[in-house]
Amino acid sequence: MSCSCHCTAAASHFDARRAQRDRARYERNGPDNTTALLLQELRPVANPGDRLLDVGGGIGVLGVELRSAGLSEVILVDAAAGSLAVAAELMAGSSPATTFRAIAGDFTEVAPLTGEIVTLDRVVCCYPDFDGLLRRAASSARRVLALSFPRDRWYVSLVLGIENLWRRIVGDPFRTFVHPPPAMAALLRDAGWTLETRRTTLAWCVERWGRRED
Ligand SMILES: C[S@@+](CC[C@H](N)C(=O)[O-])C[C@H]1O[C@@H](n2cnc3c(N)ncnc32)[C@H](O)[C@@H]1O
Repeated sequence: MSCSCHCTAAASHFDARRAQRDRARYERNGPDNTTALLLQELRPVANPGDRLLDVGGGIGVLGVELRSAGLSEVILVDAAAGSLAVAAELMAGSSPATTFRAIAGDFTEVAPLTGEIVTLDRVVCCYPDFDGLLRRAASSARRVLALSFPRDRWYVSLVLGIENLWRRIVGDPFRTFVHPPPAMAALLRDAGWTLETRRTTLAWCVERWGRRED
């Protein structure tokens, strides 16, 4: 396992207990809001035989839900081993045609991986170096890149700031970030991607990008 300082903090923040809570919430209510929006954008473009590379995929809801599209493989890379263990259980009921691979570690440090579809649902905000993370995701994706991230609004920064202050007080080294959406978009455009869809909620932005045919 490969893990940076920040990923060590993420692994202990997103521990086994939290993963079980996430699983119970998923089994009770279905996918969380940003995940549901991503699924709406991904279902029309997911083809049989595609490989999904879900970066920071937590308990793996995107893969579980998209397997019905006929995915050949789901690869889940996450810093948190507790989440990966729950994902493996959820995927165990998967169609045998969809293989599942879980990789524990920092996505920017693991061996190169590829997928027709690459997703980052609420992950960019959990990592200080958005540039390194997105650059790696952009070069790993073959056809579709989809992500969700917090909107750059004062009230979002306020909430994240309060959460980070609380974590500092209680000694939790994990931090979240509101990265600049224009800089993220510029990076993806420079890497050969075109924005295809964007959806917003009060706090979140959900985008689907397609590889540009130059
Ligand atoms: C807020 S959770 C989101 C989980 C899932 N994508 C969802 O939306 O339910 C962020 C996840 O990203 C993982 N993570 C953050 N930075 C990462 C990195 N550089 N490499 C791999 N996983 C990372 C964390 O361990 C955590 O499971």
